[in-house]
Amino acid sequence: MSEKLRLGVNIDHVATIRNARGGRHPEPLRAAGIAAAAGADGITAHLREDRRHIGDADIERLRHEIALPLNLEMAATAEMTAIALRHRPHAACIVPEKRSEVTTEGGLDVIGGGATLARTVKTLADAGIRVSLFIEADPRQLDAARALGAPVVELHTGCYCDVEAGPARARQLERLRAAAAHAAAIGLECHAGHGLAFDTVEDVAAIATIRELNIGHFLIGEAIFTGLDAAIRRMRALMATGRARCR
Ligand code: PXP
Repeated sequence: MSEKLRLGVNIDHVATIRNARGGRHPEPLRAAGIAAAAGADGITAHLREDRRHIGDADIERLRHEIALPLNLEMAATAEMTAIALRHRPHAACIVPEKRSEVTTEGGLDVIGGGATLARTVKTLADAGIRVSLFIEADPRQLDAARALGAPVVELHTGCYCDVEAGPARARQLERLRAAAAHAAAIGLECHAGHGLAFDTVEDVAAIATIRELNIGHFLIGEAIFTGLDAAIRRMRALMATGRARCR
């Protein structure tokens, strides 16, 4: 029997909409509460250097006013490490960050990550924070993550989600499957996320060694039409359908 598949709901884009007007509505904290009631297992939020969506006060409130575990997405910088140490989220997912990008464009280069990445992983882990590294489905990056002592990797599903359904997407799914199997073989817990939607989630959920999905943009967009609660519940149902295939 495969392990339960957890869902982390990324609420960054609730803050994107709020920040478009500079006021308080809609509040990410309220979205987190709805996500909890709809069956999310965790809340994910990316505090970017430029604070374009989630801000410092959001992290403070999400950490202290929501019962679900917080997964803080962050760049491996001294500023973000200090913030993580101050708030001690359940988990920290280290992502590459470029100021000019619209969203996280690719995985971390763990192989070339050098002393800064190694120091960040160790500092966070020593503080009891579960560290994950956001990487492409590349066995060399997985091996490097293992060598660095990170207990978890999150596979970037963008390449899989961004191609049309058909042979190209099937090839990307195969890459994810192989990477998830390799992660398990070398003792890493495997998560996945980025770009997942109703039509792409089932096949990823069917990969038995993936333990957690982090999904944001699609859910917040869908919430405009159906409400956040309904969007999350449908996503969970599709995850369950996919997961049932690997029993
Ligand atoms: N996982 C990581 C590491 C991310 O950076 C993001 C985007 O912030 C996600 C998951 C969620 O991606 P999306 O918003 O496309 O669902």
